[in-house]
Amino acid sequence: MFDELSLNLLDIGMNSLAAGASVLRIVVIESHRRDWLILQVRDNGCGMDDATLQRILAENSSTKANRKKSIGLGLALLRQTSEMCGGTFHVRSTPGKGTTVTASMRLTHIDRPPLGDLTATIETLAASPTVDVQLHYRNDNQTFHFHSQEAKHHEPSRTPKTKRKSAEASRAA
Ligand SMILES: Nc1ncnc2c1ncn2[C@@H]1O[C@H](COP(=O)(O)OP(=O)(O)OP(=O)(O)O)[C@@H](O)[C@H]1O
Ligand SMILES: [Mg+2]
Repeated sequence: MFDELSLNLLDIGMNSLAAGASVLRIVVIESHRRDWLILQVRDNGCGMDDATLQRILAENSSTKANRKKSIGLGLALLRQTSEMCGGTFHVRSTPGKGTTVTASMRLTHIDRPPLGDLTATIETLAASPTVDVQLHYRNDNQTFHFHSQEAKHHEPSRTPKTKRKSAEASRAA
């Protein structure tokens, strides 16, 4: 089991990047009122056919060619955590369309790992220039959205002049 759920989400998100996704959406719903935590990772990557998905879920297998043992850990560990914490785990996938991994758990379950550093997970995934990473976070009181591509577009464009200025500023500091 990962110490923090954000690390498991990072692993699942890396699968989406490996699958060539251009959009990767992570949904986190944390409800104290209903005592549940829902985590979902959805991508528009290459997907898997039914037979592959069944094999992967049955054997926790990896399609990574360089693995000595054909054991993949990302999906298996999230499933183990959900089931241990009173929740459920589902993967839906369509070849050529994408994959959705959904895990739930009891928020107050004693074995539930902390969410951890979700921001670091998003930042790490969003470092890949070809993917728009979206985070939708909701709890009983508030909702929060983040789109990495929007953040990139809204970044002030750095002209040679501003670059020079910021270099001067950092030298002066
Ligand atoms: N989002 C996805 N899109 C397409 N295929 C996927 C996706 N997620 C998982 N897979 C397939 O399922 C396999 C198992 O994934 P899992 O994360 O459990 O292990 P892994 O990525 O192979 O290895 P590890 O995560 O331990 O480095 C992958 O090798 C890949 O073939
Ligand atoms: Mg993986």
